[in-house]
Amino acid sequence: NRYCIIMAGGIGSRFWPLSNTSTPKQFLDLLGVGKTFLQSTFDRFSRIIPVENIFVVTNDIYKELVLEQLPMLTENQVLLEPLRRKTAPCIAYASYKLLNIDPNANIVVTPADHLILNESEFLMAVESAFVFTENQDVLMTLGITPNRPETGYGYIQINHNEAVKGHPSIFKVKTFTEKPNREIARVFVDSGEFVWNSGIFIWSLKSILKAFSTHLPEIDSLFRDGVGIYNSPQEKDFIAKVYSLCRSVSIDYGIMESASNVYVHCADFGWSDVGTWNSLFNNSPKDEVNNVRVGNKILAYRSTGCIIENKTDRPIIVEGLTDYLVIQTDDATMIINKHNEHEIKNYASDVETNF
Ligand code: GDD
Ligand code: MG
Repeated sequence: NRYCIIMAGGIGSRFWPLSNTSTPKQFLDLLGVGKTFLQSTFDRFSRIIPVENIFVVTNDIYKELVLEQLPMLTENQVLLEPLRRKTAPCIAYASYKLLNIDPNANIVVTPADHLILNESEFLMAVESAFVFTENQDVLMTLGITPNRPETGYGYIQINHNEAVKGHPSIFKVKTFTEKPNREIARVFVDSGEFVWNSGIFIWSLKSILKAFSTHLPEIDSLFRDGVGIYNSPQEKDFIAKVYSLCRSVSIDYGIMESASNVYVHCADFGWSDVGTWNSLFNNSPKDEVNNVRVGNKILAYRSTGCIIENKTDRPIIVEGLTDYLVIQTDDATMIINKHNEHEIKNYASDVETNF
């Protein structure tokens, strides 16, 4: 039986002031498509996985937001974390909870906040990854052809000439390097031997639990102690205790870099993790003079290459701007050059310390 785990506990600090700790990116409709990232992710997977088999793992403080945005979920399908511990504990928690529900589960694990333009191509890749992983002790990720030396991603080395027999898009992973520095990322991309890790994983419950016990034994034993407690009234207290003892580590550093049974399914399904304003700009529809406008009451004169987003009732008027971000929310109005967006985290923290 197939299950989906949606990881939705990040805080998305790069899209401040639109996203912030109380409403991170996954709960926003940044692209103006009429659905939040979480809702789009859920809808995409509900086409191939029964709704009752889709689970969302998030922080305690987002419980109401998740249930509001996905009213078809029962409370038991929303796993609540008391603390942020990155993705390995998040996946361990969901896996052990599933063990109590269906020990033969086959699982796709996905971030809540990615953009996928070619949905049918994507679902075909997930389908064939399921078929490949269902009866083997392997860990699989979906791989993306890189187009720049991005340092925020995992890099997967494969031999492009050696696909698995009978599976032309599936490759055995030679090395997995999470978030290399700029120089190394450049060497990787130039070599032509690497693909990006999309952060979307497919495996059987048995294989991922085995990987936890091999590569992250302390985390494994913390969560394993709860077998019998998951899905009972004691789960919440047990999880509070486990998270207070659990270290913070991502699945990429904790398991994917060290496991030797990793495979990658390469496919081109129009993937973007929409991690920056610039990638948001590239993925959004523009007006006739190349501005992205989201929201009402926006007037733009002799301006181009801008993202202008209004979350308030107060009009925004811009004139003579090229390549600017103009973002107005109830919390702040931010007008900065699009090329300086890496500074936003600092500006947000300056706002916090000064006002
Ligand atoms: N529940 C929960 N708890 N979810 C979390 C937590 C947590 O503590 N931390 C992160 N997440 C969620 C985020 O909301 C996001 O949807 C997903 O897990 C991935 O976490 P990120 O923090 O966004 O990871 P990343 O972007 O730095 O790196 C990952 O994704 C890249 C592709 O976008 C890695 O898998 C990279 O290898 C990969 O290239
Ligand atoms: Mg990410």
